[in-house]
Amino acid sequence: MHILIKEETILQKVKEIGQKINDDYQNKNPIIIGVLKGSFMFLSDLLKEINIPVEVDFVSVSSYDGKKSSGEVKLGQDISSDITDRDIIVVEDIVDTGCTLRFLLDRFSELKPRSVAICSLLNKRDARQVDIHFTYLGFNIPRVFVVGYGLDQSNKYRNLNFIGVVNGK
Ligand code: IMP
Ligand code: MG
Repeated sequence: MHILIKEETILQKVKEIGQKINDDYQNKNPIIIGVLKGSFMFLSDLLKEINIPVEVDFVSVSSYDGKKSSGEVKLGQDISSDITDRDIIVVEDIVDTGCTLRFLLDRFSELKPRSVAICSLLNKRDARQVDIHFTYLGFNIPRVFVVGYGLDQSNKYRNLNFIGVVNGK
């Protein structure tokens, strides 16, 4: 396992993003929607940095089978909140092709939220197939398959406290 981003660096960035959200959403009571499963650790650390009133919800989607994208995005568990006229912040672990996020944004926009922000810990810029505008972004990374800090390879490695690359690949 090769360490790409160590815990200390991740947590510093998470703190910065949390402070920006505190500044941007005072008196707005946003709904923070974590995209499961990958975002759970990022979301948990991020929420600890947030000191304004927020609500938390989850949505689960899957598009990956092991290391390879199946190309098809499937909705698992849907959100349970009413997001109409609300400010929502969609929290992702990583944006690769952008297809997952595009699928979610299209779904959410049908429900007419007041505003939609995108917050992702990682971005593989070179892999983008659809245009995504980040409101909050942690790190741009090269087009390598990463694991840890919530991210998996075949459901393994989610528990690592750093972002790593398996076998240097
Ligand atoms: P996209 O639809 O291609 O943007 O892929 C987004 C989803 O695929 C992310 O939310 C992750 O769950 C998963 N994914 C993409 N790249 C990686 C990676 O390098 N490691 C682990 N999961 C990944
Ligand atoms: Mg994800």
